[in-house]
Amino acid sequence: MPAVLFRSPNDSSEPWRQALSERIPGLDFRAWPNVGDPADIGFALVWKVPPSFLKEFPNLKAICSLGQGVDHIFADPELPRGPHILRLVDPWMGRAMAEWFLLQVLRFHRQGPDYEAQQRRREWKQLPAPETSTRRVGFLGLGALGAEAAGKVAALGFDVAGWSRTRKSLPGITSYAGPEELDAFLARTDILCGLLPLTPETTDLMDASLFAKLPKGAFVVNAGRGAQLVETDLLAALDSGHLAGASLDVFRTEPLPSDDPLWTHPKVQVWPHVSALTNADSGADQVAENIRRVFAGETPINSVDPDRQY
Ligand code: NAP
Ligand code: GLV
Repeated sequence: MPAVLFRSPNDSSEPWRQALSERIPGLDFRAWPNVGDPADIGFALVWKVPPSFLKEFPNLKAICSLGQGVDHIFADPELPRGPHILRLVDPWMGRAMAEWFLLQVLRFHRQGPDYEAQQRRREWKQLPAPETSTRRVGFLGLGALGAEAAGKVAALGFDVAGWSRTRKSLPGITSYAGPEELDAFLARTDILCGLLPLTPETTDLMDASLFAKLPKGAFVVNAGRGAQLVETDLLAALDSGHLAGASLDVFRTEPLPSDDPLWTHPKVQVWPHVSALTNADSGADQVAENIRRVFAGETPINSVDPDRQY
């Protein structure tokens, strides 16, 4: 059997070695830099490897992301053309992401930022109670993660919509599709929730013109990718008073540099890319299944279309 290569700057190899070896007896699992003969490697399990790294393995049959996103793989200008591109679609991550969006939506909806500011001023003041059924939440992206998060927000009684490339039919969620319906989606969105993959089409999508199309007082949440949001435009929209606040889990530069103004902006909450962390225990079943399928010449699951890049 060909070998599986693991390389990631974020994830430790040992939980994956253990979880995959339990599922595939005799697995030849090699953690970078202990690669051995590059010709032995048939399956690469990777996160943010340097450009040109993957072309060094002449017998690679599949490249699997150690996350749900695959933008880090397509960022390689010398990405080999032949191997399947695979990703995780992990229900554990889906639950984690939905929890994180519930937290962000409820914090803004229940005036958390206002009461936190009042606490800093030792000010005891009751604000008018908000109404759930008229609070309009909008998800950019209704894929594996967006659909689950949107469904859980809708189950609480919010008015929920989602924007995707293709039309969706999801209970309790109004579907907007394609660039021609983006403006109408934004105009009805009080809490914008970003869960898009990073592709050429979604890069810089959340910029000054998009923020201007949201109602005054809207709140922005992003857990997709940092490069989808123009941070200087966000700061300007917050400072002008057009946007009420933002919660961000992803940034153009990660880790966020210590002198970045987002760290200290009073209307911004910074999270260190933790809304849905990769989990070897829950992810190993599908990766083991794909190793088996790829080495048996069968069609893998969770494969990504290289033309769409997600
Ligand atoms: P997915 O299943 O591939 O879903 C992507 C969604 O985005 C789909 O609904 C898709 O529309 C929509 N979309 C893509 N390009 C679009 C475009 N140009 N215009 C309109 N809609 C577009 O992805 P997922 O598993 O939900 O994950 C989404 C992203 O979340 C990942 O790519 C990653 O960047 C991010 N993520 C972040 C974390 C974190 O911890 N912060 C963790 C995991 C993932 P269609 O359904 O019509 O194709
Ligand atoms: C994390 O950002 C992922 O793509 O899984």
